[in-house]
Amino acid sequence: IADVKSGEDEGVGRLGEKIVVRGWVRTCRAQRSVTFVEVNDGSCLSNMQCVITSDVEGYDQVESGLVATGASVMVVGIVVRSQGSKQKIEIKVEKIVLIGEIDSATFPIQKKRISNEFLRNIAHLRPRTNTFGAVARVRNALSYATHKFFQENGFVWISNPIITASDCEGAGEQFCVTTLIPTTRKAQETHVSAIPSKKDGIVDWSQDFFGKPAFLTVSGQLNAEAYATALSDVYTFGPTFRAENSNTSRHLAEFWMIEPELAFADLNDDMACATAYLQYVVGYVLENCKEDMDFFNTWIEKGIIDRLRDVAEKDFFQITYTDAVELLLKAKKKFEFPVKWGLDLQSEHERYITENIFSGCPDIKAFYMRENDDGKTVAAMDLLVPRVGELIGGSQREERLEYLENRMEELKLEKESYSWYLDLRRFGSVPHAGFGLGFERLVQFSTGIDNIRDAIPFPRTPGSAQF
Ligand code: 4AD
Ligand code: MG
Repeated sequence: IADVKSGEDEGVGRLGEKIVVRGWVRTCRAQRSVTFVEVNDGSCLSNMQCVITSDVEGYDQVESGLVATGASVMVVGIVVRSQGSKQKIEIKVEKIVLIGEIDSATFPIQKKRISNEFLRNIAHLRPRTNTFGAVARVRNALSYATHKFFQENGFVWISNPIITASDCEGAGEQFCVTTLIPTTRKAQETHVSAIPSKKDGIVDWSQDFFGKPAFLTVSGQLNAEAYATALSDVYTFGPTFRAENSNTSRHLAEFWMIEPELAFADLNDDMACATAYLQYVVGYVLENCKEDMDFFNTWIEKGIIDRLRDVAEKDFFQITYTDAVELLLKAKKKFEFPVKWGLDLQSEHERYITENIFSGCPDIKAFYMRENDDGKTVAAMDLLVPRVGELIGGSQREERLEYLENRMEELKLEKESYSWYLDLRRFGSVPHAGFGLGFERLVQFSTGIDNIRDAIPFPRTPGSAQF
């Protein structure tokens, strides 16, 4: 459908052509002499209006009601000018074939508007709706634009490991990897395809990865650093995991992160890269997902197109951590969490800042962040956007062995297990910097969708790993 309808002329150039459409029926309206069947194939938001008269091959299935909302069909016909005002073209059908029937009594997605909360319980069917179809296409475009941006700027994509022994953020928010080891010969024989259950008494549930502790990665940064200090500019784009038990509209247990790492670079280079990247992907979506963006602008968040255009075209505001704290201290608003220099900014503070000014503000955190000359702060930045809050977190990395070792001692990190990471400082260390962008938060920001659970096909949040 996109192939025919997505041009400037909305398909007029294809008049008279015979085409085949395969998709799912959105609506079927029978009038006295004709039946209108709206078919959607997911290639775009638009349906194809199919006009069916009683002489059409396969008409009996239309007449008997089998061609109903949700059924899958194949339609063959000629592209003609539409009489209706909603679209420029439609198909004068010659033949319709019912491919998959639908049980209308139990199909949960009928035409009426359905809440996103309800749709989360049927995440396997929600891509059949306008909203989730559009989110999936915009997510795809953002992902394509991400690779395009970095590839065109000389970055090499690195696949970071999912299973790791390191805790990059040092926040202890990791999921543990467990091995199921069959303890008997019989168990080994039956272990091939299915996971034997504990009650069979033949499996030893061991709490580790073949005898060593292992976790699902919280960030690919440390691994990216190893490649940046060899290939110069690299990026990762893959799933990451956080076992934080927070039920918010901005946190997932499994989310995708984009993590560029730049060699011979400082915090300013890092911020410049983050800005250029964000402006590029947002601009790409505005340019290439017009129909879906119009939909979001009308139904999900009014004004989102203008807001994204501002992001794509205007300079970002920058504010230091110290200035941000000062601003918050002067604010008339009463905050739930105290504002004090040295404390991390909370979401409510970020929200206040983004509602009053756009900003990127450093915070004080992870062991790998480079200490500033003041000995008190680190060379780090966050990029905050309205509604979503923190979209990007990044920093210049501590490239000086001594400083890094001291910091790790302070935080009581086991130097043994980070010895490989310290090697990067022992052998030809260079100043380097990078950032991580939470991909679902980018999807949230770009579509206006309220809850991060609706920005990923199958959300993983505390207690929910269905589908
Ligand atoms: O700020 P974070 O924790 O930074 C890092 O992980 C660094 N190692 C990144 C780097 O410098 N390479 O996470 C980065 C971003 C956040 O700004 C946020 O957008 C997203 O990841 N994020 C989450 N997104 C969804 N659900 C969660 N639970 C998230 N935690 C972080
Ligand atoms: Mg952060």
